[in-house]
This record gives sequence, C-alpha cells and structure tokens, in this order.
Amino acid sequence: MIVLGIETSCDETGVALIDADRGLLAHRLYSQTDLHAVYGGVVPELASRDHIQRLLPLVSAVLDEAGVDGHDLDAVVYTGGPGLLGALLTGASVARSLAWGWGIPALAVHHLEGHLLAPFLEDTGLDFPFLVLQVSGGHTQLIHARALGDYDLIGESIDDAAGEAFDKTAKLLGLGYPGGPALARLAEQGRSDALRLPRPMLDRPGLDMSFSGLKTAVLTALKKQVYRPEDVARAFEEAVTDTLVEKTRRGLEQTEAPALVVAGGVAANTTLRAGLKAMAQRQGVPVYFPRPEFCTDNGAMIALAGLRRLQAGQVTETGAPVVAARAR
Ligand code: KG4
Ligand code: ZN
Repeated sequence: MIVLGIETSCDETGVALIDADRGLLAHRLYSQTDLHAVYGGVVPELASRDHIQRLLPLVSAVLDEAGVDGHDLDAVVYTGGPGLLGALLTGASVARSLAWGWGIPALAVHHLEGHLLAPFLEDTGLDFPFLVLQVSGGHTQLIHARALGDYDLIGESIDDAAGEAFDKTAKLLGLGYPGGPALARLAEQGRSDALRLPRPMLDRPGLDMSFSGLKTAVLTALKKQVYRPEDVARAFEEAVTDTLVEKTRRGLEQTEAPALVVAGGVAANTTLRAGLKAMAQRQGVPVYFPRPEFCTDNGAMIALAGLRRLQAGQVTETGAPVVAARAR
C-alpha cells in the first residue's frame, strides 16, 4: 500500500510518499518562513496562495524520486484540520482532485494525530500505549494515547501554547520570526543564575498549564533594563522547560503510561529535550522524539497517519477529519 500525504495547515507545504512495507519513499518540504518574516507572523492569504503554487511541483518531485506513478497509489491523505482555513482548503482541493483523477480515495487526517504519530517514522520499537506531550505553536497538550484513534486529552495550556509563548517572547526581545529557534540560540549564551522567572501553575495540582503570564514577566524584567537579553532568554527557556517537565512527570504518574512521546515544533528545543530525557530516565520510562525535521510540520507525518488509519480500516466514506483527542 502506497500513500501520498499532503500538509498545508500553516506556513509549510509538506508532501511525502510512504509505503506500508518499505517506509518513507520520498518527502519534500517547502517553508514559507521568508515570505512571512517581513510581517512578523503568518499572513493567512499569502500562505494559501503560496501553497497553491508549490503543491503540484512538490507532488511531481516525490513521485519522480520514488519512481512511482500516481495510478499506482492507494490513497491521497491530507491535513483536514486544525489550521488556517484557506491554507487547509488548498491542500484538500489538490488532494481530492488528484485522488479523483487517479480513481483512488482521498482521506483527511487530524494534524495533531500526524504530530503524535511522527515517532513511528523511525524504527524505534515504540508501541501503544504512551503519553504524548504535544508542544507546537498552536497547542500544548498532554494526551494519553491508548491505541490508534483512542486519545484522551488529560491536560493543556489554558492560554498561550508553549510555541506561541516562545514566539511572543522572542518578539519582546527584538528577535525575528519565527522566534522559537532564535530565542533558543540566544539562550545558549545566557547565564542561568542572572534571574529567575515564575513556573506557572506548578503550585497547583492537575495537568493544565499557562504560559501567557511568562511573557508579561519577561516584559517586566526587560523594562528594568538591568538584565542582558541572553540571560532573559535563558530564564524564559528554563521556566518553560521546568513547567513542561513537571506537568509531564505528573502525566506519566497519573496514566502509568510505559512510554513518553514528545511531538510538535517546540520538541526541537534542545533544553526541553534534555530536561524531558532526564526526567523520563528518573521515572524509568523511555522517551521518543521525532527527528527534528519531523517535529515541525511536514508531509511525512500526515502520510503515516493516513496509512495507519487505512491499515486499521478506520476510514470514513467521505474522508472526514478524525478527532485527535476527546475532551476531558
Ligand atoms: O508544530 P509546528 O511546526 O507548527 C504548529 O504550530 O503546528 O510548531 C511551530 C512552533 C513555533 O512556535 C516555533 O517557534 C516553535 O515551534 N519552535 C521552537 C523551536 N523550533 C520551533 N521553539 C523553541 N525552540 C526551538 N528550537
Ligand atoms: Zn503542527
């Protein structure tokens, strides 16, 4: 079974081909970062227009690289949501048109299911059940993944997502877009003992998180004009890491999940990775990170999520998006 995956939920055009037996055959990613950088954030209309231009050439490129003809495919899978509506619509339209032309089904999958299944792109021995820490620009969630399609949302940020907090704080520090990686680079030069920012909601029980207050704490610190930007960046990164690590530890304790998966763009952050690895080791639980290029948005994770759903026979007639996690 060979599946073509298409991701267009935000500002990356991702296309990939996956084979049930041979794994990932080819994948391509076009990032629109430069297009949006001058505006300091993603401009939805520009994102949609750019996806339209990139999609078909990227599809041709992966088919050529894999030496596969469209008529040999078994399905086309695309991100049904969540994401920018116009951007999603471009991916859905192209995917459904191609599928119609090739006479094969088109299937929508949930963007977050793509992220949480991304570690399966590697041959690691990971299997269900596991706990997922999903940390991206739009979501910060703890999900108990019991089996394919059986996901329980057990905790989440009640305001900003962790990635959003990284991006907003980077803006306060005068760094470019996207802010997360830029802030992480600056933090590497900072000192740990220069200042300490609050660890939001750690004093309260439960698995919910909050990151919007940290941004205000950074603003207050910067206004004092006594701290170096690199020290503020370091303090911010450490506060986010400590909060995520402790909430994840509580999540492992509550669910007794035998493994931890960390997914989403912020999973590329090296300080967070180190903190989570150390905690998981203390808990005696293996931790799985997708490789950095599959942490951020990409077509490979969407192709894989679709393949898994097809293999399990979990496909709706209309290819309607599947729900990633039911609310508590
Ligand atoms: O999953 P993703 O590519 O897109 C969605 O939000 O779905 O995540 C993007 C987020 C952005 O907020 C970006 O700043 C953040 O991930 N990010 C990072 C790093 N790399 C990406 N944040 C902190 N450190 C990084 N190294
Ligand atoms: Zn994403």
